[in-house]
Amino acid sequence: MENNFSVYIETYGCQMNISDTEIVSRIVTNAGYNLVDSPKKANVILLNTCSVRENAERKIHDKLKQLKKFKDNEHQIVVGVLGCMAERLRNKIIESNSIVDIAVGPDEYRKVPDLIQKAFAGEKGIAVKLSRVETYDDIEPLRKEGISAWISIMRGCDKFCSFCVVPYTRGRERSRKLQNVVDEVKKLWDEGIKEVTLLGQNVNSYKCPITNSDFADLLLECSKSVPQMRIRFITSHPQDMSDKLIETIAERDNICKYIHLPLQSGSNRILQLMNRNYTYEHYLGRINKIRTLIPNCALSTDIIAGFPTETLEDHQATLRALEEIRFEGAYMFRYSPREHTKAYKLQDDVSEKEKIRRLNEIIDLQNQISKEINLSEIGMFHLVLPEGPSKKDKNYWAGRTDTNKVVIFKPANDTKVGNLVKVKIINATSATLFGEIVQ
Ligand code: SAH
Ligand code: SF4
Ligand code: F3S
Repeated sequence: MENNFSVYIETYGCQMNISDTEIVSRIVTNAGYNLVDSPKKANVILLNTCSVRENAERKIHDKLKQLKKFKDNEHQIVVGVLGCMAERLRNKIIESNSIVDIAVGPDEYRKVPDLIQKAFAGEKGIAVKLSRVETYDDIEPLRKEGISAWISIMRGCDKFCSFCVVPYTRGRERSRKLQNVVDEVKKLWDEGIKEVTLLGQNVNSYKCPITNSDFADLLLECSKSVPQMRIRFITSHPQDMSDKLIETIAERDNICKYIHLPLQSGSNRILQLMNRNYTYEHYLGRINKIRTLIPNCALSTDIIAGFPTETLEDHQATLRALEEIRFEGAYMFRYSPREHTKAYKLQDDVSEKEKIRRLNEIIDLQNQISKEINLSEIGMFHLVLPEGPSKKDKNYWAGRTDTNKVVIFKPANDTKVGNLVKVKIINATSATLFGEIVQ
């Protein structure tokens, strides 16, 4: 089945959204639509959106303004908003933006082709029901070429951290069947994929709906089924970071030694207000367990600066935590109030200026630590998975270590994308390692 619709999808937000775009891509191509790589070639433009912070939504509003000019000047196009922002704003996104024709939430992507068709007939469409069961388990994501693939293994989140919009935009937690995930990993290996990343908002609270297997079981199964595949996963929650899971990561060579474990704050009072369900001491206990069982494991985290009522003392506790733990890297944000969340009812009492000051202090400290850790790797060896020429200089290639660090190196004559090379680290910045291939 073919038709004249050409669809362009632009993706914002987290890796779950990248993975969802691949699912939507399959759904629209199955319906006979063409997928195109530029908005200029398209008569359907879909934005897969993010609501996690105000800034994320502002970007989409700016994009919609830009698209309005495009729609007025150029040709008849259908514009759709998919994802978290469609779910959060529902009909408001259609009413407040005359150019938006369809709004589709994360659990209703099967309806996208139908809604596009109706939009061309002049009917605005909205589908934002959340589901307790939809996992798109039967839909094979339409992936771009490459050696790495995302695999969503669960959807939604039941944690309800008080600052976070995700439980409202993505609904209740639900997991795919273990066997289907394992089969997907095998199939991807046969297709030439060398690295998969298992995805979930709380990847380690995965539970197979058939066998009740947990995330450690799933990792082990994937790892054994394709022993050569590099297996990554994000994002883990400290509460579900079990000993069994840490032991599984330690035991298996092809499970990457990199864990992203959001801390959010070093202050127990703030952690409690955030509804994170752990104390700093518990978190530190998990880190120590990881470092004992997996001495070479790289760790990264998320930090929020300026949560409501955060005092200078609380802020100092976060800085102390970063100094004590010494993460390899961190994603650092200033608190952004989100409507309907619990924290929204608290007074956003840290001024914008002070939030920025605290955030910058956090960033400066973390960059310093990342740089020191990276410099200490000079002289060490890594197996690097080459991804291809580096963006800055085509004479050099980029690849990743098992610990998820980017390494820039000069390729040898026989260096191939996806074939591991052994690299000696010769220099480093806070964000990048530089190396040379050794035999
Ligand atoms: N599910 C993941 C990530 C969720 S969103 C987890 O639990 O870790 C990614 C990060 O965005 C969060 O870890 C948090 O640090 C940040 N974030 C979420 N909501 C925010 C808000 N309202 N303001 C600022 N940062 C926020
Ligand atoms: Fe948001 Fe917390 Fe769920 Fe992560 S665990 S998605 S921060 S509610
Ligand atoms: Fe954003 Fe939704 Fe992901 S709010 S971070 S796109 S889950």
